[in-house]
Amino acid sequence: MRGPLPLARRAGAALGLGRDPGQVEKKAEGKVQKQICRVVLDHFEKQYTAELGDAWSRVRDVLTSPWCWQHALLLNRFSPSPGLESSLAEQGYHPAFPAALPYLPAAFRCYSRTAPGRFPAQKHQPGRLKGYYLLNAASLLPVLALEVQDGEHVLDLCAAPGGKSVAILQCACPGHFHCNEYDDLRSRWLEQTIESFIPDPLINLITVSKLDGRQIGDLQPEFYDKVLVDAPCSNDRSWLFSADPQQAALRLMQRKELSSLQFQLLRSAVKALRRGGSLVYSTCTLSRAENSDVINLLLSSCSNVMPVDISGMARGVSQEFTFLSGTQQHELLVLPEKGRAWGPMYVAKLKKVSST
Ligand SMILES: C[S@@+](CC[C@H](N)C(=O)[O-])C[C@H]1O[C@@H](n2cnc3c(N)ncnc32)[C@H](O)[C@@H]1O
Repeated sequence: MRGPLPLARRAGAALGLGRDPGQVEKKAEGKVQKQICRVVLDHFEKQYTAELGDAWSRVRDVLTSPWCWQHALLLNRFSPSPGLESSLAEQGYHPAFPAALPYLPAAFRCYSRTAPGRFPAQKHQPGRLKGYYLLNAASLLPVLALEVQDGEHVLDLCAAPGGKSVAILQCACPGHFHCNEYDDLRSRWLEQTIESFIPDPLINLITVSKLDGRQIGDLQPEFYDKVLVDAPCSNDRSWLFSADPQQAALRLMQRKELSSLQFQLLRSAVKALRRGGSLVYSTCTLSRAENSDVINLLLSSCSNVMPVDISGMARGVSQEFTFLSGTQQHELLVLPEKGRAWGPMYVAKLKKVSST
C-alpha cells in the first residue's frame, strides 16, 4: 500500500475518553510514594554493573530517588502563553538546548532547571490547546537527531502517548505525518495528545493508525523520508517501581523477547524508508541487548543501511546531559546523574542508502 492510511482521528469533543493524560501524570506522581521492587533492582544491579562499570552506582542513586528527578517543559509553538517564559526564568528554568546547536529550529523552546520538581500539568480541555508538554528532556534527543524538514513524509512508528510526535511538530511542518500506535487504549491517548497540542489546519496532515508497526514496511514500502522508532523497551525507571514482584520477575524473564520485537520494528522501518531517508531508533533503557546489540544486528544484516554520525549533537548538548563514554559515533546513551537526572535514553541514527 502506498500513500496515507485512513484517518483515525476524531474531533476532541467527540472522543469522550476515560483516561486524561493529566490523570495519568497524577498517577505517575503517586508512584513516587511506592517501593522499589527488589527483584528488579537485583537484576539491574548484576546486568548494569557488568555493562556500565563504575557509572552504574551513580545512575542507580538517581533511578531509585524519584524525588530528585527533573522534568522539563516543551513549549507549544501553536499556543503561546504570555508571561510563561518570564515566569519560568523567575523559577530558575533555563533553555535546555543551546541556541547554537546545529539544527535547533528557532521555534523549538524547551526549559529545564537543575532543581528537581515538576511544573503543574495542564488538564485536557476539548477544543483548547495546551501551552506546554512536561517531559524528560532526554526524550527530545531522538527528535532532534531525526532533523525533520518542512514538507517531508514522516512516520512515528510507536507513537503513544505522543510526546515525540508533538515535539516533531515543534521542529517542522511535515508534508505528511503518520503517527502509529498498536495498543488500542494508548492510541486513543495519542489522539488526545495530538488534539491538545496541534491546531487546524496542521492537524489535517496527521494520520493516526493502530497497526502493528512490524507490518508498516510492507504496507507502505519506500514511502517515508524520516522514521522514528521509539521502541517498546524495558523502561528502567518504571520497572524499578513495579508494584507486583511476581509480574516483575516474569517481565524480566521475558526481557529477551523485547530485542526481537525491536529488531522486527527496525526492519519494518527500513522497508518504509525511501532511498536516502533516515531513521532514528530510541529506547528508555540502559540495557545493551535492547540498544547497541539490536542496532549492530541490523547493520550486519541489512547492507542497505549505514550508520550516521550524531557525535556532534552529543557534544553540543553535553552541558545538560551525561553520556556513557565509549559508544560509537552513530549512537549515544544518556546516563541519569544528580542535577542532570535525564534519561536513560539511547539514541541511534541510520540512513538507507539503497532500495535493496
Ligand atoms: C516507548 S513507547 C512510545 C513513546 C512515544 N514515542 C512518546 O514519545 O510519547 C513505545 C510504544 O510502542 C507501542 N508498541 C508496542 N508494540 C508495538 C508494535 N508492534 N507496533 C507499534 N507500536 C507498538 C507501545 O504500546 C508503546 O506505546
